[in-house]
This record gives sequence, structure tokens and C-alpha cells, in this order.
Amino acid sequence: MRTRVAEILSTGKTGHEYAIAGWVRSVRASKEVVFITLNDGSNLPGIQVVAGSRLENFQEVTKIPTGAALRVTGHLVESPAVGQQWELAAETITVIGTSDESYPLQKKRHTFEYLRSIAHLRPRSNTFGAVFRLRSRLAQAIHRFFADRNFLYVHTPIITASDCEGAGELFRVTTLDADETDFSEDFFAQKTGLTVSGQLEGELFAQAFTDVYTFGPTFRAENSNTARHASEFWMIEPELAFADLADDADLAEEFVRYLCRFALEECVEDMAFFDKQIENGLLERIRRVAEADFARLEYGEAIERLQKSGASFNYPVQWGLDLQTEHERYITEQIIGGPAFILNYPKDIKAFYMRRNDDGRTVAAMDLLVPKVGEIIGGSQREERLDLLEDRMVELGIAREPLWWYLESRRWGSCPHAGFGLGFERLVMYLSGMENIRDVIPFPRTPRHCEF
Ligand code: 4AD
Ligand code: MG
Repeated sequence: MRTRVAEILSTGKTGHEYAIAGWVRSVRASKEVVFITLNDGSNLPGIQVVAGSRLENFQEVTKIPTGAALRVTGHLVESPAVGQQWELAAETITVIGTSDESYPLQKKRHTFEYLRSIAHLRPRSNTFGAVFRLRSRLAQAIHRFFADRNFLYVHTPIITASDCEGAGELFRVTTLDADETDFSEDFFAQKTGLTVSGQLEGELFAQAFTDVYTFGPTFRAENSNTARHASEFWMIEPELAFADLADDADLAEEFVRYLCRFALEECVEDMAFFDKQIENGLLERIRRVAEADFARLEYGEAIERLQKSGASFNYPVQWGLDLQTEHERYITEQIIGGPAFILNYPKDIKAFYMRRNDDGRTVAAMDLLVPKVGEIIGGSQREERLDLLEDRMVELGIAREPLWWYLESRRWGSCPHAGFGLGFERLVMYLSGMENIRDVIPFPRTPRHCEF
């Protein structure tokens, strides 16, 4: 039996006997007494273990190196040291797994770049402990958010034959040899790849269950080496039947604010760490987002305000062109000073499934932009009118045959519907202040990197 450190520290009783197990962060020893900081991942600081020279293997214990795995039994006592309420007065200390002085996570602070090269060990550092606890709690909060609102959780496929975003960023899935090109001979007897989005299948389920969401891994063979793009990332995609773009934005806003509040209220220790060590003022920034309404801007208005700003950009700003990261960040950081929805983009820069607006040149699309990260959500109202959807596919040269089932969903009981995708890693970046997507996903996949 063992008890997790976080549980002992939150519910523990003086004098109570506990067994704990974890990894050594530091050892300080004198002739009479040894102090060990032990961490089992359940909290940031771990717990201090104290043992006197009466301990049977005292000599061995004073020499335990950082990184070793220990099991400790003892009594919980109030700690005389400042900055901690409790410590464990050890009766037995058993070395389960040794370590040595070559253990890479010695006390000094390492760069994030270096820690990426030891992704198998970085979860044992303070920063990555905090990041992956936050990530895990947020994932659980996301399911709670949708469960509380009676959404159906649908598991959309990972292997797919359709490129939802139409950007040609599919990783191929095949059992053919490299020189074979006859897909009828392939495993699925057609060309298949890893999904870039669960949306199309999500739409089918929304047209049966009304409110649904997927939360799963997505893959993009996009050769962009930026701090915000990963080749494998996780996405949360709700889809609402009988809903329009405004309903979609309302849900996105409620969702993001819920997650901000959740992080502030339920991840107190780790969020305080980010505020102190990663981004000064983080807590204040998240608090403001949790409280205030998000701005909503038409795409055309965003273009005008960028043009009038007098700022100089690397990429041109003009109606009809897509917003680049520099523009998105300028809007949310300088013009709005907080999260902002951009609504109704030109149809030519958006995906085929988005609903055409009455002006004929825009579609009911929305992106949510946030300071530091830029685009965190992309969504839209979907084209539910079969004839307009077919026209758009013809215009874009998208074959109808492979999407026959998608088109049929517009034939019987078609209804207005809308949804969005929240990039999970971008959310974790936003809430932790971490600036590189590689540092918020356990084992990042990016162009030329798939080591761990
Ligand atoms: O804007 P995107 O491409 O939208 C879709 O995939 C829609 N099918 C979603 C929907 O309506 N159901 O991607 C949605 C979000 C982006 O806003 C971004 O946060 C994240 O997914 N994202 C990425 N995150 C990390 N690495 C990448 N390469 C990403 N590409 C998109
Ligand atoms: Mg997008």
C-alpha cells in the first residue's frame, strides 16, 4: 500500500503512519540527520522526508543520488521548516531503483531545448510536472464541461479516406510498397490517411444526437516548423445541430472561459508556479479572460483596423487575403487586448463545407484569437443546403463520389448546424504561458522529429 503525496498533504493527520514512493529530487545530509525531497508527480514540491541516524541504513541513505526511486514509511509530523506544513519522519527508507551522478536532471536549471532532448525524463522536472498535470486536469475538465451539458462523446476515426480541411496535409496510411501505386491493391482498397479533423463524422452524429463532441488526436503533414504547429496534436471538436454561427461563438466563449476558471480554481499550485517562473502576470491575464466578454469582429472590420493601425507587417493586409500570425497577434494583443472572434471570412480562403453568406463572397466562419498564441479555435456554420454545397465542391474541384455519405446527410432532415475545433496544445500554451508547442505535449512530433 502507498499513499500519494498530494493526498497526504491535503487530508493528512499528524502522527498518522504512511507509506509513500517516489523519486529523489534532492538529499541533504549531516552526521545526525538526512533530509530528502521526494516527488511522486502528484504535486509540485513533493514532500520532505526526514530521518535520524537511528535509521537502520542511515549511512546508505545519506548517499542516495538524485533520481533514485524510494519507498518510505513513517509518521506525518508538522514541519519546523518554513514554506512547508508537513514532513514525513521516516522509520524505513528502501531504495527501489538506484541512480548515479550521471542522472541528467541534477539541480541546476536546464533550458527547454535541452529538456526536449531528454523527453523521457523531463516529466520529472518542476516545469514539466506542472505542464502535464495541467494538461491532464484540463482534459478531464473538457469531458466534464460537455457531460454537464448533455453532449454525446463520439469517437471519430483516426484512419480516414477524406481530407476534411482540403489542404492536402494527410499522412498516408498504406501497406503498399513504396513503388506500388495501385490503391485498389492497398489494405483498404483505396487511398487512406490519418485524419486532420473529426468534423465531417462529427456532423453526421450531430444530425442524430444534436449536441456532440470529439476529443482525439489529429495529424497534419504540414511542413511548418513553428512554435505553434505540431504534426500530431489533439483537438476538441463540438458540433451543434439547429445552431448558427452566433450559437457556435457563444459555446466557444463559454467553453474557453470555463477552462480558464477551472485552471485558476483547481490547479492553484501549478498555476502559481507558471505565474512565477514562466510568465509574470499570467494569473491576472487568465482572470481577466475568465471575467470579460470576448470581442467579436467582422473579418472586413479586422482588415480595416489593421490597415489603419499604421503598423508594418511582413505579409500584406488586404480584403481577401488570409490573416497571418503577425496580424492575428496584432489584433488580439494591440487592437483588442484580449480574446477576439473574427467572423465571416472571404469564402476563397476557407474550407468547402462552410456556409455561404447572403453577400455571396463570405462564409459563416469564425476564428478565436488570443494574445500570445494567436488562433486557438477555428470553426464555422456548415453549408446545410445540398445544392450550394455541391456547387462549392464543383468550384473547388472536390470529387463528390468519395464524400457521397456527407452529401446524403443534406438530403434527409438536413438542418442548420455549426461547430468548431479547439487545439488542445494551444489551449495548454495559453493557460501555462509556455511558448513552444513542443513543451506542452508529452512526446512532440514535428517535421524531422519523432524520436521518443
Ligand atoms: O482551424 P482548423 O484547421 O479547423 C478544423 O480543423 C475544423 N475542422 C474544426 C471544426 O470546425 N470542427 O483547426 C482547429 C484548431 C486551430 O484553431 C488550432 O488551435 C489547432 O486546431 N491546430 C493546430 N494545433 C497544433 N498544430 C497544428 N498543426 C494545428 N493545426 C490546427
Ligand atoms: Mg484554422
